[in-house]
Amino acid sequence: MTPAPAHHWLRPPADGSPARFAYGADYNPEQWPREVWKEDVRLMREAGVTIVSVAIFSWARLQPAEDRWDFEWLDEVLDLLHSNGITVDLATATASPPPWLTTLHPEILPVTRTGETLAQGARQHWRPTSPVFREYALRLVEAMATRYADHPALVAWHISNELGCHNIYDYSDDAARYFRDWLRTRYGTLDGLNHAWATSFWSQRYGDWDEIQPPRLAASHANPTQQLDFKRFSSDALKDYLRAERDVLRRLTPAIPVTTNFMVMGGTKGMSYPDWAEEIDFVSNDHYAHPGPQRLDELSFSAGLTHSIAGGRPWFLMEHSTSAVNWQTVNLAKREGELARDSLVHVAHGADAVCFFQWRQSAAGAEKYHSAMVPHAGPDSEVFRAVTALGRTLEALTPVVGSVREPARAALVYDWESWWAVERDSQPSSLLDYRQEALDWYSAFLSLGVRVDVVTTSADLTGYDFVAAPLLHVVPRALAGRLEAFVRGGGHLATTYYSGVVDENDHVHLGGYPGALRELLGIRVEEFGPLQEGVEVRLDNGLTGGLWTDRIEVTDPEATVLARYGSGDQAGRPAITRRVPAGGGSAAYVSTRLGGEGLSEVLGSLLSGAGVLSELPAEVRGRVELTVRTDGVHAYWFLVNRTDGPVACGTVAGQLMTGHQEAAEEGLVLPPRGVAVLRVATGASPFGPRVPGTAPVE
Ligand code: GAL
Repeated sequence: MTPAPAHHWLRPPADGSPARFAYGADYNPEQWPREVWKEDVRLMREAGVTIVSVAIFSWARLQPAEDRWDFEWLDEVLDLLHSNGITVDLATATASPPPWLTTLHPEILPVTRTGETLAQGARQHWRPTSPVFREYALRLVEAMATRYADHPALVAWHISNELGCHNIYDYSDDAARYFRDWLRTRYGTLDGLNHAWATSFWSQRYGDWDEIQPPRLAASHANPTQQLDFKRFSSDALKDYLRAERDVLRRLTPAIPVTTNFMVMGGTKGMSYPDWAEEIDFVSNDHYAHPGPQRLDELSFSAGLTHSIAGGRPWFLMEHSTSAVNWQTVNLAKREGELARDSLVHVAHGADAVCFFQWRQSAAGAEKYHSAMVPHAGPDSEVFRAVTALGRTLEALTPVVGSVREPARAALVYDWESWWAVERDSQPSSLLDYRQEALDWYSAFLSLGVRVDVVTTSADLTGYDFVAAPLLHVVPRALAGRLEAFVRGGGHLATTYYSGVVDENDHVHLGGYPGALRELLGIRVEEFGPLQEGVEVRLDNGLTGGLWTDRIEVTDPEATVLARYGSGDQAGRPAITRRVPAGGGSAAYVSTRLGGEGLSEVLGSLLSGAGVLSELPAEVRGRVELTVRTDGVHAYWFLVNRTDGPVACGTVAGQLMTGHQEAAEEGLVLPPRGVAVLRVATGASPFGPRVPGTAPVE
C-alpha cells in the first residue's frame, strides 16, 4: 500500500500552478550589510530559490537585552524576500541564548558527565530541562509568532535548530530532578525501578527517589539500565521542550505548519526521532556526507530512514552542503556532479525540499570555511553554476512533488534502543558498531540492486517479503512475537550476532543466546566469541568474518547450516544458519561480521530464497541505485549512477524528466555521478514487464 501524503507543507501557488520543490538554504542576513541583501535576493531568483530559513541564530540580535527588542531588520528582510517571491521558514530563534542571558542566569548552562559546566561562546549552551531557559525561550517564541503571524512570506516554523546537537546529554541538577520525575512515570514505584535497574547488584538499591542521579562520572561502570534510561529520558526531555515551543506556535498561528530539523544518523544518536516525528507537522532532516567508500550508501541509507520516520510522507531536506563542510578532519570539496546527485538521492527517497546550509558563505566566524550556495569566490563560480543548474533540474521534476516512495519488498530494521545498548560500556566487545553493521547490510542491498526500505522496530512488517534486522540486541517479548508472526506468515528474516539478547530493561533472556529469538532461529549459543581487533576468521564458503563469532549449536531440525567456520576457535561450527519452518517463511542468523561485500553474497542467496529480485538489468546492478516514487498514476524511477564513470542502462521506456543523462543509440547512458528520472505508468517498469521471477538476483 502506498501511503497518501496526509499533509503537505508546500502552500500551492496562488495562480493555480502545481506546487514546486522547495529549494533554498539557511539565510543569515544579519552577518551582512544591507547592500548585500539586495544582491542576495537577485541571486536567489537566478538560482530558482523558493524558500529560506531565517533567524536561526538571531536571538542576540532580536533581543539585545532582557527588556529590549529589535525586529525592524527582520521585518525588512522578510518584506524583501516576499517582494521577490521567496517564502520563509522562520526560525523561533531560540537555538543559541545570548551572552546577557547566560550572564544573568548561568544556571541554564549544561553540565557534562564529568561535572564541568559548559560556557557560552559557541552555541546551544542550554539545559533542555532548565525552567529558566524555557521561560526566556518561550517568551521569544511568543514574540516571533505574534509579530509574524500574518506575514505573507511565512510558510513554516522552524523550531530552534538541530535540537540536541550539542546539548542532548546534560547532567545538571535540573536534569536530575526531571530524570526522577520521568522514572516515577515509567516505573510507578521504587520497587519497579529497583527491579528494572537490577539494583541488588553492587549494592545500588534505592530507598528514596531523591537518591537517584543521572549516570554521572562514577568509580566504575554505571548501572547499565540507568544508562539506557538516561538515554531514553534525555531524548524525551528534549522532545518535551520541542512540544513546549510547538504549543506556543500552534496557539498563535494554527495555520502555519511546524517543523524542526532532525539529524537522522548524524553526529549524535541521542534523539529517538521515530518518537519525535509525530510531534511536528512535517519532518525535516539535515544530512552531511562522510567521505569514504560508503559515502553514497550512507547518504541513501539516511534518506531512506528519514522517509520512514516521516511516515512515508514527503519530507524536507533542511540542510546539506553544496561542497565542503568545516568540521571533519579533512574537509573535502564535492566533485563534479556530487552536488546534484546528493540532492537527488534525497529527492528519490521522498524529499520534496532541497535546502543547504547556507545561502552565502560567511566571511568570518567558526563556519567561514563551510561551503554555501554563494561561495567566497562569488556567483562566478562552479558551485553557483551547479546551484542554478540544480534549481532548473528541480523545476523539471515538478510533477514528482507530492508523490511518495513506492514501498520495497525488503526492509532493513534500524533500532535506536539497540544502537544505544550495544555501544555502551561493559559489553562482550567495545568494538561493536551498530550503525556500521546496519550500513553494511544496506550496502549489500545496493550492490545487488535490490530496493530496501529502512524501517524502525515499530513499523508494520507484514507487507514485506524479507526483513533484515542486524544487531537487533534489545528484543522485548512483544517484538520477538511480532518477528515470529512475520516468519509464520511466510516472511523471511535475517539477523546477526548479538541479537535477541536482552529485554527492554537490559536483562538477559536466559537459557542461551540469541535469547528471545532462539526458538525462531532454531539455534542456541552458550558463549559469545568476540574477536580481537584485526583478527579474522575464514568461513567454508570463502568469506571472511571479523569482530565476532558465536559457539552455535543447531537445536531445531528445521534449521540448516549455510556456512561453517573454517578457522579460529569455532572452526567446524556453524557460522550462518537458516531455519525454514513449515509455512514458507525462514529465519537466518549470521554470527560474524562479514562487511558489505561478504554480506552481499549471503544476502543475494537469502533474497533469492525469498523470491525478492532486483528490478534493474543485471549489467547495472550495484552501479545504479534505483528508487521509485509514485503519485498513483505515474511512477518516477530514479536511477542514480553510483560510479565515477558512465553507465549504460540499455533501452528504456518512459519519459525522461531530467537533463542528467545522455540518450545514446544503445539507450540511456548515465554520465559519471549522473541521475536520470524516468516517468512511466504506475506499476510499469522502464526496463520491461515487472513480472516477479524474471530477473533473479545474481
Ligand atoms: C548543522 C547546523 C548548521 C551548520 C551546519 C554546518 O549542524 O544546523 O547551523 O552549523 O551544521 O555543517
